[in-house]
Amino acid sequence: MVTIESKRITPPKRLLYGPGPSAVDPRAYEAMSQPVVGIRDPYLLDLLSEIQSGLRNAFGTRNEATFPIPGGGGAGMEAAVSSFVLPGSKFAIFAAGLFADRMTVVAQRQRATVARFEKPWGEVFSAEEAEEFIQRQQPDVVGFVQAETSTGAYQSGRAITAAARKVNALVIADCVTSLGAMPVELDSVGIDVAYSCSQKGLSCPAGLSPVSISPRAYQWLQSRPEPPYTWYLDLALISKYFEPAHVYHHTPSPPLYYAMHQGLAAIEEEGLQNRWARHQQTNKQLLAGLERLGFQPLVKNPDHRIWHLTTVIPPAHVDEASLRQKLLERHNIEIASGLGQLSGKILRIGTMGPLATEESVDFLLESLADCM
Ligand SMILES: Cc1ncc(COP(=O)(O)O)c(C=O)c1O
Repeated sequence: MVTIESKRITPPKRLLYGPGPSAVDPRAYEAMSQPVVGIRDPYLLDLLSEIQSGLRNAFGTRNEATFPIPGGGGAGMEAAVSSFVLPGSKFAIFAAGLFADRMTVVAQRQRATVARFEKPWGEVFSAEEAEEFIQRQQPDVVGFVQAETSTGAYQSGRAITAAARKVNALVIADCVTSLGAMPVELDSVGIDVAYSCSQKGLSCPAGLSPVSISPRAYQWLQSRPEPPYTWYLDLALISKYFEPAHVYHHTPSPPLYYAMHQGLAAIEEEGLQNRWARHQQTNKQLLAGLERLGFQPLVKNPDHRIWHLTTVIPPAHVDEASLRQKLLERHNIEIASGLGQLSGKILRIGTMGPLATEESVDFLLESLADCM
């Protein structure tokens, strides 16, 4: 008799204390096993409109054009830059980390002229610096990273948007790591175009990139002189699915929508400010514990630190790679190394969503001490 081997899978249950993917909210997991429906099913469209309002809450905006696009944070970046940066136009980027460097390359591939203001990784930009750079460059579009995941530095963007307004430049912000865990506040900061991801502050799996476009940027998009090179990531085309006619552009993934709906519902139920406060509190607790173990924060100014992603330089006797390996083997814990020029030099530790609690931080600190 032939026996058919079971192909069921049992992935390990890791504790995701990295910079993302982060721990998935249990209700998002559960939602993903619900039935798949069609792309214009009234159920899905109702759910979508709730997702859009949940995203507006998390983004801190009234922007009508707020919706999830397929792909991760990289898709959001490519969609935002290619939709708003014209070939031959001037794009000014504030660069102090790997993701600002990536935005640079994406803009160069759009054949824009890119002006970079570089600072050492881990630093942020002052209002005076932003003003001087933007006045000198007179850009059409300005880009910055609100929470630079490669360094752990946070910059609300207020210093940048004020200067950009004076030269009538649109501002694109990378909110991949900030959304859902610390202030994004698009409207009060004055950001025109923002993109994010699902797998960090929203406690969902990767696969969707929330995007938000201000009315003035949306108007610009509608009158863009020529379409962008990209078709799939053309935000003017994608946006039509999220408008009343629901014009087909791509096939969305209902399970990912279900997960995002639940991730956003969890945020609304907790209250956005409470959620921020929880992440801020656990950051303080984690950093204090890490300093006791001999780690040093990479971002020197406490006001410039991402609350849910702590970046630290290990003590001289600790090898970061073997520490990470021991954590995974002994405690099922994933934390991350540095990227780019910080590779092998720092550790990046995320305390996001379900793991941003006092007990989770205590557990992580005990596990780290055990592995050092
Ligand atoms: C600030 C920032 N921008 C963009 C990205 C790219 O996102 P993804 O890996 O989901 O494509 C990341 C990923 O970590 C990020 O942290």
